Amino acid sequence: MSAVNQAEIIFGSVRAGQYPGAFPPQVEKIITKLIGADRPVLHLFSGGSEIGDVRVDINPNSNATHKVDAFEFLKSAESRRPWKWVIGDPDYCDEQAKRMGRPGGFSSQQFAGNVEKENIISDFMAKWTDNILWLDRRMPRFNKVFARKKVWLIRTWGWHNVRVLQWLSRVARPLEVFA
Ligand SMILES: C[S@@+](CC[C@H](N)C(=O)[O-])C[C@H]1O[C@@H](n2cnc3c(N)ncnc32)[C@H](O)[C@@H]1O
Repeated sequence: MSAVNQAEIIFGSVRAGQYPGAFPPQVEKIITKLIGADRPVLHLFSGGSEIGDVRVDINPNSNATHKVDAFEFLKSAESRRPWKWVIGDPDYCDEQAKRMGRPGGFSSQQFAGNVEKENIISDFMAKWTDNILWLDRRMPRFNKVFARKKVWLIRTWGWHNVRVLQWLSRVARPLEVFA
């Protein structure tokens, strides 16, 4: 169930994205090819990206369709519907956000290691999406709801460590959805 079906290592000529923290172009290509014509697509922490029908980012200078706190958005009726894909490239902590110098200079509220917030995302995913694409190592936990389909290890130029793109696909509906 939790076995990775495929892994791919991409390194050498991978450029960083438009700003530190943006999707590298190669990651954008992988994502757009994979989601293809599937709809609807929700993109959380979407930054400058234009991937996804509904994009959520707290930064007013972002290309989000909803410039709000993702955790507030996830409480809204608009978020609570079936998604084919949910994409996420979240922030990790205030300090890291500052170092990465995102446009607008916004910093997240502490996210990685904030179990309450991580659980909000996990619970949402378990109920509402068929597939997840998540960039970087820290990843929501799931109880037998998703199987890990593929992992890409991407070494970009610059100071990032190896970046990790993970694809999880639904294998079971949580019981409350059938109730
Ligand atoms: C690593 S960047 C994502 C970059 C994106 N992949 C791109 O290609 O531009 C993380 C994003 O999370 C956003 N963010 C941080 N905290 C947030 C929150 N609580 N709600 C919504 N967006 C948030 C930041 O504004 C930032 O754009």
